[in-house]
Amino acid sequence: MIRKARITDVPAIADLISQYARTGKMLFRSHAELYETLRDFFIYEQDSPASPRILGVCALEIVWADLAEVKSLAVDGRAQGRGIGRNLVHAVIAEAIELKIQRLFALTYERIFFEKLGFAVVEKSALPLKVWSDCLKCPKRDQCDEIAVVKTLFPAPTVQEINPDMLADLRYDVPTPLVKLKLPQA
Ligand SMILES: CC(C)(COP(=O)(O)OP(=O)(O)OC[C@H]1O[C@@H](n2cnc3c(N)ncnc32)[C@H](O)[C@@H]1OP(=O)(O)O)[C@@H](O)C(=O)NCCC(=O)NCCS
Repeated sequence: MIRKARITDVPAIADLISQYARTGKMLFRSHAELYETLRDFFIYEQDSPASPRILGVCALEIVWADLAEVKSLAVDGRAQGRGIGRNLVHAVIAEAIELKIQRLFALTYERIFFEKLGFAVVEKSALPLKVWSDCLKCPKRDQCDEIAVVKTLFPAPTVQEINPDMLADLRYDVPTPLVKLKLPQA
């Protein structure tokens, strides 16, 4: 069963992520960080009331108005190949759609897995700089060999779709070229 994470799940989430962080496949997440970002997480729990066990985790981290990251995706080694990873990413996609987030991305070594879920490989430089804040915590830093994959959930709004009244309200916040391009004639 997939559900949102609870506070009592944090030690198990940390253990699962650490299995792969130790081999350099993903970044460690401290307990403190997991408590802070707990609401980002979905977990897959084995349906056994006697001994519930967390077999998969995945988080949706919002980065900016139009962008969020599929983060900390991990499925227990003994449970891989059963569709748990796919269903966790589907849960994250559903939440992102609910939140009207335009694009999802992941930094990963699992190209085929993500391509099967409709993500496309892009140049890492296509992602905004803010995405790279986590790289400061990564031992690989400038030697990063992950690829970036992106999935578009909603097309970018066209100029015609932007309400001119809204832009008029934003008159003093919008960069000058945008104001020139889109504001209606006075
Ligand atoms: C990547 C990972 C999450 C996949 O989880 P999973 O539950 O085993 O994947 P699923 O069973 O949902 O697989 C979905 C599809 O992807 C394919 N797939 C999964 N992993 C794959 C791989 N390494 N190479 C090629 N195909 C893969 C499956 O065959 C399946 O294909 P199908 O739809 O044609 O049947 C899991 O292997 C994992 O936790 N890896 C270690 C941590 C990691 O690298 N996380 C990613 C960080 S971004």
